[in-house]
Amino acid sequence: MKIALLGLGSVGRGVARVLSDPAYGFVITAAADSKSGAVAQPGSSLDMDEVFSRKAATGRCGDTAWNAERIVREAEYDILVEVTPTNAQTGEPALSHIRTALARGKHVVTSNKGPVSIAYPELAQLAAEHNAALLFEGTVAGAVPIINGLVHGLAGNKVLQLFGILNGTCNYILTRMEEESLTYAQALDEARDLGYAEADPTYDVNGTDAAIKLVILANAVFDMGVTLDDVIRIGIDRLTPDALRMAGTTGHTIRLIASIHPEKRLLEVSPRLIPKDHPLVVEGTLNAVTVETKLAGPITFIGRGAGSVETASAVLADLLAVKERYGGT
Ligand code: HSE
Repeated sequence: MKIALLGLGSVGRGVARVLSDPAYGFVITAAADSKSGAVAQPGSSLDMDEVFSRKAATGRCGDTAWNAERIVREAEYDILVEVTPTNAQTGEPALSHIRTALARGKHVVTSNKGPVSIAYPELAQLAAEHNAALLFEGTVAGAVPIINGLVHGLAGNKVLQLFGILNGTCNYILTRMEEESLTYAQALDEARDLGYAEADPTYDVNGTDAAIKLVILANAVFDMGVTLDDVIRIGIDRLTPDALRMAGTTGHTIRLIASIHPEKRLLEVSPRLIPKDHPLVVEGTLNAVTVETKLAGPITFIGRGAGSVETASAVLADLLAVKERYGGT
């Protein structure tokens, strides 16, 4: 199937790398960064090594006659892969890209949290009206298949509660403060160097990023119809190494926990004390989610919540699901 790839940053590179394996059966026919676009001749596909080399040399992946908007509207593709940077306030420009593609009857796969957290009900309806797929596994917990795990793996099994570590940056900061007695500011600097933090890391440390992921899960998996304002949010920005030391004296640690209680309609992100041997106590940038299920008790998912190829693995799973359902051209 033919892919239009919007966003050539860390995730876009990962997607291009993964899709370069012809065994998956996808070709990239159009690609755009924030300044330009490249479109393959009809019947052929883009050489992505060439596209990235051009971008490295000139700052642009293609020519300015094309850009993301024009590609979405006019280029030939079956699936739009939207991995441009997240805008948590407006969802733009990704929200418009996704709307336009779905209205053309094109499938959309995205790891972009902004548009899905802001407009999931509208986008899902648009997708249904145009018989198009809208999949976004990579928006929550990166490589960890939490959305597919809940929707398909645990189909029919009622989830009583969900608790998770959904922000790798905060988890890294807390781990480093605890292990090395770093201050909050020192640990945040390290996390930024690792490239996990959002462009504005305030969104990570004040709990917004984890809250956005909760909204996506709440709406797409539990059909709760909520917005970011429905999430109680307390970040880790005021935590001191002393608080972590004190927690340690009773065999506990502190983690930023995101939780959903679907029946009570409760959504919360806050630092909580948890026993050090609890399965949710993961180190570094890992994510972890425990779901309390009615039929099978607790089930915990753990893995890499961000990263280039890691997020691309979630995008690939969605692409293969589209291919299986809608076939290829
Ligand atoms: N800033 C996010 C995190 C990236 O630290 O988890 C993945 O959504």
